[in-house]
Amino acid sequence: MDLSASGLTQRLAEAGQSHLLQFWSELSPKEQADLTHDLQGMDFNEISGFFKNAMETSSSSKHDKMDARMEPVPREVLGSVTRDRESLKDWELAGLQCISQSKVAVLLLAGGQGTRLGVSYPKGMYDVGLPSHKTLFQIQAERILKLQQLAEQKHKIKCCIPWYIMTSGRTMESTREFFSRHSYFGLDKNNIIFFQQGMLPAMDYSGKIILENKGKLSMAPDGNGGLYRALGNQGIMEDMEQRGIAFIHVYCVDNILVKVADPSFVGFCVEKGADCGAKVVEKTNPTEAVGVVCKVDGRYQVVEYSEITLATAEKRSDDGRLMFNAGNVANHFFSFPFLRDVVQKYEPKLQHHVAQKKIPYVDAQGQLIKPDKPNGIKMEKFVFDIFQFAKTFVVYEVLREDEFSPLKNADSQDGKDTPTTARHALMSLHHRWVLNAGGHFIDENGRRVPAIPSLKDGTDLPIKCEISPRVSYGGEGLEELVKGREFHPTLMIDERGVHELVKNGV
Ligand code: UD1
Repeated sequence: MDLSASGLTQRLAEAGQSHLLQFWSELSPKEQADLTHDLQGMDFNEISGFFKNAMETSSSSKHDKMDARMEPVPREVLGSVTRDRESLKDWELAGLQCISQSKVAVLLLAGGQGTRLGVSYPKGMYDVGLPSHKTLFQIQAERILKLQQLAEQKHKIKCCIPWYIMTSGRTMESTREFFSRHSYFGLDKNNIIFFQQGMLPAMDYSGKIILENKGKLSMAPDGNGGLYRALGNQGIMEDMEQRGIAFIHVYCVDNILVKVADPSFVGFCVEKGADCGAKVVEKTNPTEAVGVVCKVDGRYQVVEYSEITLATAEKRSDDGRLMFNAGNVANHFFSFPFLRDVVQKYEPKLQHHVAQKKIPYVDAQGQLIKPDKPNGIKMEKFVFDIFQFAKTFVVYEVLREDEFSPLKNADSQDGKDTPTTARHALMSLHHRWVLNAGGHFIDENGRRVPAIPSLKDGTDLPIKCEISPRVSYGGEGLEELVKGREFHPTLMIDERGVHELVKNGV
């Protein structure tokens, strides 16, 4: 292949990236073609601009003094499922009405690589070991189905909640294939719209792009804030406009309890006239790995767990609670006009965050090296970085045990945010739904199981109980199925009825 004719050698030399061709003569024609294709698609000026800005911001003294600039969320923008009980029903009705008018879309961020969980396929395809063996994607799909039905029943009008799914170069094919193989879990495939976020190269500290092998650049998705650029360059805003979408609920793939298109959250934001909103849970442990919603220099922002000092994380208010306790559960609300402004005007203003990483690379001799300490950076934008542009920003506090149990890590003893903790969180929520609807559980000796499960062998094992989202979205509609009845675990309630399964492991 003639490199000079393509002008690539010169472009790389000008960009200070000539090392990317150092193994050219050792590559097969196919590898040469692939590398050329990758390099030709890159805007080196833009990438080097991103690198300079990101490095400057991450090392500036302004960043070090973040703590001094942070203020907690003021009470007047905060709605709470516990403190504002009298308004909850109204918010839910308002949200359900918007849904019935097909004005609400959900947008799933599923472009991450799931590195911590350690699986090679998209996280949404993970089976946490529920009695039904449903995956995260299936659970979310069925919640959308159910919510459509609830809105239709209430307002006697057919509606749909379009589902936009952002994947990355690494997750697109397998995600699409999975949905197709499962017949879109009963949803209309025309209302599931896949799109792909961008990728950026990993770089060493001097701005040189890292080679993952002799003919391949080390690439990673550009962060969940890559959303906005992808929305713009893949025609998604036009699709939303054509469908008449007015409100968008954005969420992350890994939370097994996520209330997709949550009518109460949507209704709260709409009633407050918000253009942007964030759902939070109370952070109670200073070292928990969640970002906190707060104000920085008077503007709303999430300060990530990696960006806050322990002293600030531990600060307490007069009531004894953590001062920065609005834990970000990565559920955001956007009005359509706000999202359009973000895509058209504000996205280019966002800076990339720098993550220092151990990035495998080939050295000058062509040896593959797996470093044991960080040797370079990945650059990512964050989805919440646009909060600062909102004119009316609101925060909605929900209960952790009802709505937040993310799957981040593989199972390990005493592990946090694992398949086991996610499975237990879902079953324990469904157990409470059954109790609240007037059902009871009995043990193998026919005795009623206490409502609060006792500690057994030092482990808090939940009652095995799973309710299909096709039957209940948020605990509603269960009385007729369970009231006054006693069940042996494992209890399964799905569209075929109520079943007690023979014993199996949790
Ligand atoms: C995220 C939040 C954090 C919050 C926590 C709650 C961000 C930047 N941080 O942290 O404030 O407290 O969730 O669980 O949102 N993703 C993409 N593309 C990417 C990278 C990630 O779509 O390039 C998606 C992932 O698929 C996932 C979500 O973004 O659905 C969150 O990514 P993850 O890396 O797990 O974020 P956390 O660090 O856990």
